[in-house]
Amino acid sequence: MDDVTAPPVRAPRPAVSRRSALLGLAAVGAIAAVDVGGFLCAAGTLDADALTPARLTDRFEEVAGHHDGFRRNHAKGVSATGYFTATGAGSAVSTASVFRIGRIPVTGRFSLSGGNPSTPDAAATVRGLGLAFDLPDGEQWRTAMINTPVFPDRTPDGFYERLLASKADPATGKPDPDRMAAFLSRRPETAAAMNLIRQHPWTSGFDNSTYYGLNAFLCTNDTGVTVPVRWTLVPEEPARSPGLPGRDYLFDTLTATVSRRPLRWRMLLTIGQPGDRTDDATRPWPPTRQVLDVGTVIIDAVRTEAPHNARDLNFDPLILPTGIAPSDDPLLSARSAVYTESFTRRSGEPKTPALVDVDGVRDDR
Ligand code: HEM
Repeated sequence: MDDVTAPPVRAPRPAVSRRSALLGLAAVGAIAAVDVGGFLCAAGTLDADALTPARLTDRFEEVAGHHDGFRRNHAKGVSATGYFTATGAGSAVSTASVFRIGRIPVTGRFSLSGGNPSTPDAAATVRGLGLAFDLPDGEQWRTAMINTPVFPDRTPDGFYERLLASKADPATGKPDPDRMAAFLSRRPETAAAMNLIRQHPWTSGFDNSTYYGLNAFLCTNDTGVTVPVRWTLVPEEPARSPGLPGRDYLFDTLTATVSRRPLRWRMLLTIGQPGDRTDDATRPWPPTRQVLDVGTVIIDAVRTEAPHNARDLNFDPLILPTGIAPSDDPLLSARSAVYTESFTRRSGEPKTPALVDVDGVRDDR
């Protein structure tokens, strides 16, 4: 089987430290060059078998096809705008300006996982929300979250293998069960995470989904104390039945709801304790951990994927404000490098209009 015979892949070094060079950079073009080097030189040398950002990005194309101008993962999506109002509670653990009482403009993007921008909406497809916070003094905070309580993979090479193991067999339209079983037997952490994900209740739409940041970060407050954190957005929208069936029903329902009223999510910061793993997004922290209610994200407009909307943003999880730093989670530097590779490829390609319209308007990519 392909995934078993693939050359061994290596995890990159833990989180890169050129984050500070990014602070304040809103220009996405400038961001495109960052972090690739750290991932390429995983062991300090270039190695033909090493997992590189290009190889990981190629795998998305191998599994979902090549689609000019679109993200290599979470290709189907819409842009959104709104703002964040902070309660001030986050200042207990972080000096980040986003946590000071006030109002911050936010650009967002709702998406479905997978590299095919034409995929029909399905209830069980992983939903994503990317957010970019425009902070005072040109600082930026970017985060991309999904609606599962843990991530299936602990390492980038695990993700690389899983992509292939999950590829639909053309004969059945489903992943080959033998290949998936072989993969899971080599990756018990993924089998355990998938069990947790299966037990997690799946809501009806983007509007009432909880979005999890999953990776751990480090927050430092004004007395110099540093704690590990994970963030979660909890919806204020109630459960409801799914919208009308249709190819884009999840996106259409989102657009229709936001045209009637703004959507709101509480942002919760969970504070890790000594012993809680910060390098393993497949494992939840104990439910007894302290949780801070640090504010509300309000989305009041949904927009097409036209130029200058979130289409031209890279929701690189290492674009962090002063007061929030990466943890030792190996997914973080890999995400940063691969998002940048994906961004660089799609920026240089012709733009075809996105499938999803917003109130009947398609973008003019
Ligand atoms: C090694 C692990 C991962 C890899 C290789 C990966 C890869 C990618 C790629 C290539 C993109 C498209 C980037 C672009 O063109 O702008 C993307 C988007 C996204 N990823 Fe990941 N990802 C990983 C882990 C995660 C995790 C842990 C989460 C959630 C916590 C996540 C959530 C998202 C979301 C929400 C988007 C869409 C963001 C947008 O709308 O632009 N990913 N990912």
